[in-house]
Amino acid sequence: MLEVTISGIRFRNPVLLASGIMDEQGDSMLRAAREGAGGVVTKSIGIEEREGYSNPTVVVLPTGLMNAIGLSNPGIENFKEEIDLVKKEKIPVIGSIFGKNEDFPFLAKKMEKFGADGVELNLSCPHVKGFGSEIGQDPDAVEEIVKEVKKKVSIPVFAKLTPNITNIVEIAKAASSADALVLINTVKGMVIDIYAKRPVLSNIYGGYSGPGIKPIGVRAVYDVRKEMKIPIIGVGGINGWEDAVEYILSGANAVQVGSAIYYKGFSIFKEIVKGLETYMKNEGFERIEDFSGLAVIK
Ligand SMILES: Cc1cc2nc3c(=O)[nH]c(=O)nc-3n(C[C@H](O)[C@H](O)[C@H](O)COP(=O)(O)O)c2cc1C
Repeated sequence: MLEVTISGIRFRNPVLLASGIMDEQGDSMLRAAREGAGGVVTKSIGIEEREGYSNPTVVVLPTGLMNAIGLSNPGIENFKEEIDLVKKEKIPVIGSIFGKNEDFPFLAKKMEKFGADGVELNLSCPHVKGFGSEIGQDPDAVEEIVKEVKKKVSIPVFAKLTPNITNIVEIAKAASSADALVLINTVKGMVIDIYAKRPVLSNIYGGYSGPGIKPIGVRAVYDVRKEMKIPIIGVGGINGWEDAVEYILSGANAVQVGSAIYYKGFSIFKEIVKGLETYMKNEGFERIEDFSGLAVIK
């Protein structure tokens, strides 16, 4: 059985749409749901509408994507209708939010009012000054934001952490009042155009995602699972069912899929779900819990 319950939210399967990929609009989230996703996470939404950076904002590399979209989003007040749309499919919708430290409780409350089943705190965007890794690399800020949001809402709170840090366990412990951790956001990087002799992205730095970052994500999940019992949602470089299994064996309770949609389209959800089912049958596992964390050597 593929159903998993994370902090009280029941997902029909453990394969969710990651924040930022085809999820700024209700109809594309609905599409992911209809194509088999167990749940969807929205694009990170802030207080005000943001246009994001000028082009180029995405570079396609042989082993993944480098993006610096710049947290473009319609602003929280314009987002209710998108949530209403995706709720038609009756799968859990997790509202992702970003902002300055003091914005998080307000945005979380809005997402709760809009009907989101949970809220995901983006404490980890690597390429927007003042919002992302700067918060996510500071354990005190992470601890305070999570606690303040927990005080304000009664829906489950997920904290999404950055890999751009020496010791992810330290930040994970700072976020331990969250109901679940989401590991990992993109890895800070850059790409140089060798003929223009300049960085390719207009923002210079970007966030690296896709197959190349899977070992980094798996390691982050493994390290945190070794030390903590909190539910973990693994994300980073999942491009097929084997990758999802790797994350689960390292301690994830569910996974999210982002960049793979660029490579394989929405059919990736059914592909992973089917592969997981066959793997579990062949290996004698009845539930995801039966093999979550099995690879962790204590
Ligand atoms: C184009 C793009 C936009 C993204 N936007 C967001 C975002 O708004 N909020 C967020 O928390 N993560 C965002 N991410 C990060 C993804 O949710 C995910 O953590 C990361 O890409 C690793 O997973 P993947 O390799 O499956 O893409 C974005 C990633 C990409 C590629």
